Amino acid sequence: MSKLTVEGVGMFEVAETKRMVNTLIDDVKIDQLHACGGFARCTTCRVQFVSGEPSKMTQAEKDVLTSRGLVGQSGLRLSCQILCDHDMTVRAISRLAGSGRADAGKHPEENITPPAVWTERATG
Ligand code: FES
Repeated sequence: MSKLTVEGVGMFEVAETKRMVNTLIDDVKIDQLHACGGFARCTTCRVQFVSGEPSKMTQAEKDVLTSRGLVGQSGLRLSCQILCDHDMTVRAISRLAGSGRADAGKHPEENITPPAVWTERATG
């Protein structure tokens, strides 16, 4: 088990194989946006890392952060592309409340989608 701390919300014990986006939805129970359903397309599942940012990154996350010009934003990552495989602290910065969206998005699948191809974190 790992510990996921969400600033202002609390600390949660979570299975190391669980996607962060699903932890935020199912365990932390916040209104985390995930508009594309966890496919590394929308970037609404973004979180801001406070500590424990993973050094690995899926190619899909790297590609969408690059195309949206978000790579240079330190600590900004996509929760749908991250497994809770070590202790981490994040800020939940992309919520349904105030977004103007009708809903947070379709529940992401259990495993990372598209199937994870691991690479090193983009650093801008
Ligand atoms: S990029 Fe859309 S849910 Fe993660």
